[in-house]
Amino acid sequence: MSHHFPTHPIPAGFADAHITPEDYRRMYERSLVDRDAFFSEMASEFLSWDKPWDSVCSFDFVKGEASWFAGGQLNVSVNCIDRHLPERADQTAIIWEGDDPADNRFISYQELKDEVCRLGNALRARGVGKGDRVCLYMPMVPEAAIAMLACTRIGAVHTIVFGGFSPEALKDRIQSAECSAVITSDEGLRGGKAVPLKTNVDKSLTDCPSVDTCVVVRRTGADVTMVDGRDVYYDEITATQSNDCEPESMDSEDPLFILYTSGSTGKPKGVLHTTAGYLLQASMTFKYVFDYRDGEVFWCTADVGWVTGHSYIVYGPLANGATTLMFEGVPTYPDAGRCWDVVDKHQVSIFYTAPTAIRALQGKGDNYVSRSSRKSLRILGTVGEPINPEAWEWYFNTVGDGRCPIVDTWWQTETGAHMISPLPGATPMKPGSASVPFFGVEPALLAEDGSEIEGPGAGYLVIKSSWPSQIRSVYGDHQRMVDTYFSNYPGYYFTGDGATRDADGYYWITGRVDDVLNVSGHRMGTAEVESALVLHDSIAEAAVVGFPHDIKGQGIYCYVTPMEGIEPNDALKAELVQLCVEEIGPIAKPDVIQWAPGLPKTRSGKIMRRILRKIAENELDSLGDTSTLADPSVVEDLISNRNA
Ligand code: WTA
Repeated sequence: MSHHFPTHPIPAGFADAHITPEDYRRMYERSLVDRDAFFSEMASEFLSWDKPWDSVCSFDFVKGEASWFAGGQLNVSVNCIDRHLPERADQTAIIWEGDDPADNRFISYQELKDEVCRLGNALRARGVGKGDRVCLYMPMVPEAAIAMLACTRIGAVHTIVFGGFSPEALKDRIQSAECSAVITSDEGLRGGKAVPLKTNVDKSLTDCPSVDTCVVVRRTGADVTMVDGRDVYYDEITATQSNDCEPESMDSEDPLFILYTSGSTGKPKGVLHTTAGYLLQASMTFKYVFDYRDGEVFWCTADVGWVTGHSYIVYGPLANGATTLMFEGVPTYPDAGRCWDVVDKHQVSIFYTAPTAIRALQGKGDNYVSRSSRKSLRILGTVGEPINPEAWEWYFNTVGDGRCPIVDTWWQTETGAHMISPLPGATPMKPGSASVPFFGVEPALLAEDGSEIEGPGAGYLVIKSSWPSQIRSVYGDHQRMVDTYFSNYPGYYFTGDGATRDADGYYWITGRVDDVLNVSGHRMGTAEVESALVLHDSIAEAAVVGFPHDIKGQGIYCYVTPMEGIEPNDALKAELVQLCVEEIGPIAKPDVIQWAPGLPKTRSGKIMRRILRKIAENELDSLGDTSTLADPSVVEDLISNRNA
């Protein structure tokens, strides 16, 4: 908890926010004590239904089960598009800002509806229907959002794979979800560099027999291989289709999407979200956490390949009839002032990004900020990792000119939408604190023994009762969901994060308590990186931990043991780095590789990561007890050869 950074009062001009301090207290209380009535009203206010629900919520956290709005029916694309048409047909739904500042597109709600319908029809014509899985491996172009919505139109389940993942990682996900179609692009374009998406897809599909269709969006016009019968161009298959496509009426609990995310063990898990609860919480949080006003331009800088892009580029904004900005490029291209130039150019009111981006831009100097006006900005947001109070203050004072509330939103792929966050007109801000729970969210802190901590204190962050956009399953392995999230402390959802709570009831997330890294806001399992490293013939063993990194939040520190007789050298290091990039993607590039003739293990052979973390963090005074190690001398060696 930071004592050097005082609480900021709610800035002037927010007295008429959607949620006032009194509203927050009243609605939060009601959302828990009168849950069904509260969410029933919200579901009527926020969503359009084909058929009303029979019951609002039932859950059993011992079994890991939850159901919201059972018996109800609705279609997500209708909620995000069609129902807005009477008022908003000509309003811009998506502003697209290309990698090159000269490239822009403005897509109205009417155009969005026509595009989504044409693609929905084209997919149906290729045999894709309700319940089928469709993999999206896309650059940040409007067709990514169109493809998501086209899937929801026909009841297909999308699973988006971030365009920065390698062919190997893509293949794993397509196989795991048993996708029948892939939607991709010839190439992506980021920071002036082409990303060979279709070529990557081709490498993956050599081993994915379930896929019979690959739709290719022409982005750069690059010459790519098209496999006869399987590969079709987006513009060609949509050209002849009708602008009307009968929406599939979905049950509230029908699957909406699968999104793979890293855990502490094994391969990434396919987090499954369902239809009504997810859309409701994405929609409610968008309106209340960002205090969204009709006509405003909202910009979330995430990629649609992450949950943040799902909920706050596409579903939350469009369900509210908002104008959402989609950015193809990177914050430092053509230079570090790009974000603020775009804010001025498109008159952005709400800007939502990750602390790692804020720190990186802060490091480039204030001139890149001060050359822009930023007068249109009203609210700033952060997500993905704890924000250090220094970066918070810079964001608040330099970017927001001290006028704009910052919403520090804590949530996860598994939670689907915001869970803990300030509300602009209701919550005084403490830099570095995600603050207070959203409506319907009941957090608690647990001690090691599972007892609940009352009042101020520190512990494991858990959630005590169901929320609408909760994870419903791990695709293909329901037991894995129960084991991962509902078994550590039966009766609670286990977040994997540690947190403290102060005397005002504010939550301060301290980071993961499991073997999950958070590198530049991207989740990565240490086990995934270790598996990549030991694929190399010269490597016997590897152990990976995180260490504090000024810009990335956490860096990747690898201890690697070569095979007997192998002389480690820089060429081998370079091969290992390359292997991580090939197996996972550039985000998994190790920051440090240290040769380790031995790893600290207990006598039963378990690697003591606690010690490896301390060495990586250079906290050599607090290594703790090493006497239980099978061979305590390996620690001495690791310390003297430390090379961060
Ligand atoms: C971390 C991203 C501190 C946390 C939406 C969580 C945060 C993981 C915050 C989920 C925040 C996310 N403050 N930590 N405001 N937001 N995290 O699934 O460790 O990619 O468990 O979802 O990011 O990452 P994921």
